[in-house]
Amino acid sequence: MPRKLKKGVLVVLEGIDGSGKTTQARSLLRRLRYRGYRAVFFREPTRGPWGREVKRLAARADSLTPDEELELFVRDRRENVAKNLVPALEAGKVVVLDRYYFSTIAYQGAKGIDTGKIRRMNEVFAVRPDLVVVLDVDARAGLARVRGRKTRDELFEREDYLVRVARIFRGFKGPEFVHLDGRGDRRAVGRAIWARVAPLLLPRT
Ligand code: TYD
Repeated sequence: MPRKLKKGVLVVLEGIDGSGKTTQARSLLRRLRYRGYRAVFFREPTRGPWGREVKRLAARADSLTPDEELELFVRDRRENVAKNLVPALEAGKVVVLDRYYFSTIAYQGAKGIDTGKIRRMNEVFAVRPDLVVVLDVDARAGLARVRGRKTRDELFEREDYLVRVARIFRGFKGPEFVHLDGRGDRRAVGRAIWARVAPLLLPRT
């Protein structure tokens, strides 16, 4: 019998590329399901039409202005909120989300767009998360994990950008945020995340 919750719970994982958030999101999902909770996983950018479009365009350097990029991420998110997040939360599920609007604040903010403006335009439609886990790694360590086929110059440029992105991520404050050291042992990071998630899982009364 699945365990029922009084209301849905939205847990977001954030961090720069290579911070380990996707691995942690998947292991959190497994842990939740193993314990009998109804849990679903989503990610942004999504695999929907806007998400695919933004990924395709973003892969080509400078094919979009920062404002156009922002617009596409927000469109993708609108769809994700309406089609995926709201229905799952209304059904009382635990939603594990790999990136949300904090990524837009950090990544598009690091391209010079006002972070307050990005936050406001998202918060008019985006459901508020119950918990935001920010995995912190420095840009070089993150890049080393995702290096792939980038050239030396691309890597330098990217590192410079990710340093600014990471700085914005570090600055998020509030009761819903937890900042963890992403370089730590993977299982220890997993346990630290669980310690913050478990108290949110109140049974239906
Ligand atoms: P990512 O989660 O890394 O996708 P994948 O694991 O499939 O590569 O996201 C792709 C990139 O998009 C990543 O570098 C972060 C960036 N991004 C933004 O710039 N703004 C956003 O709002 C989001 C959600 C992602």
